[in-house]
Amino acid sequence: MAKDVTALIEADHREVEKLFDQLKSGNGDRAGLAQEVGRILLAHSKAEEALVYPVAAKDAGEKQEIKHSEKEHQQAEQLIHQLQQADPDDTEFDQLVDQLVDAVSHHVQEEEFEVLPAMRESLGKGRLADLGTQFSDRRKRELDKLEATAHETEIRMGGKTSKSVQYAQAIKLVEDKPERPGRSLVTTNHDVIRRWVEARGGQPATVPGTEHGDHLGVLRVDFPDYGGKDLRHVSWEEWFDTFDKRRLNFLYQEQRSDGSTSNFFRLENPEREQG
Ligand SMILES: [Fe+2]
Ligand SMILES: [Fe+2]
Repeated sequence: MAKDVTALIEADHREVEKLFDQLKSGNGDRAGLAQEVGRILLAHSKAEEALVYPVAAKDAGEKQEIKHSEKEHQQAEQLIHQLQQADPDDTEFDQLVDQLVDAVSHHVQEEEFEVLPAMRESLGKGRLADLGTQFSDRRKRELDKLEATAHETEIRMGGKTSKSVQYAQAIKLVEDKPERPGRSLVTTNHDVIRRWVEARGGQPATVPGTEHGDHLGVLRVDFPDYGGKDLRHVSWEEWFDTFDKRRLNFLYQEQRSDGSTSNFFRLENPEREQG
């Protein structure tokens, strides 16, 4: 028989705590650990929100508690994104680890002392087992998705990472929204970049004469009315190929602080001093 969903959730919590201990010890590949614990937490939370929380709210009478839990998931998610971008040698990294550990421990306690017992009391064994199967499937799917996008959407860090990139909000998925108008954003996600450019009527372009061998030279975006007559239009494939090979970040804005559409963007190379 499949495992009770509450046992699966608790097993995840223990796994996360183990990874937290490793992160706090300061040894090993801390950047890698931060990615791993982030992915597990996100997949776990998404599966809870999709399958477990609705049942807990409806059938176990935990409506208020679940609302509160979902808010805590959002807070944890923000901390995870910040942590995954932070430099492990920086004190900010340790601060974020502490904040995340505190937030998650508190959340886990509430789940284990409030939500899960209520579910065990109100749902039959069969239902808990069914939910368990659904939970593991969903969690696995979310993990696969996160792992697949991880390498394409990681913000690139290096010795010359600019302050602007460090302070920008990382946009990893098309669904990610700016925290507020005027917020500087950074991404490497091709879909995010392409949508942003196309929404502004722009086209991928390069400056002729700056090519290196068969690679494109300086990458530009040709916006209408920006006097880009000296630019050569290229395909998105070529543009992204160069963007990835040079390990660039796309630093940009959706809106200015006053809410109007912003065309601001800059390409940042984390290995090179910016001009
Ligand atoms: Fe949980
Ligand atoms: Fe949770």
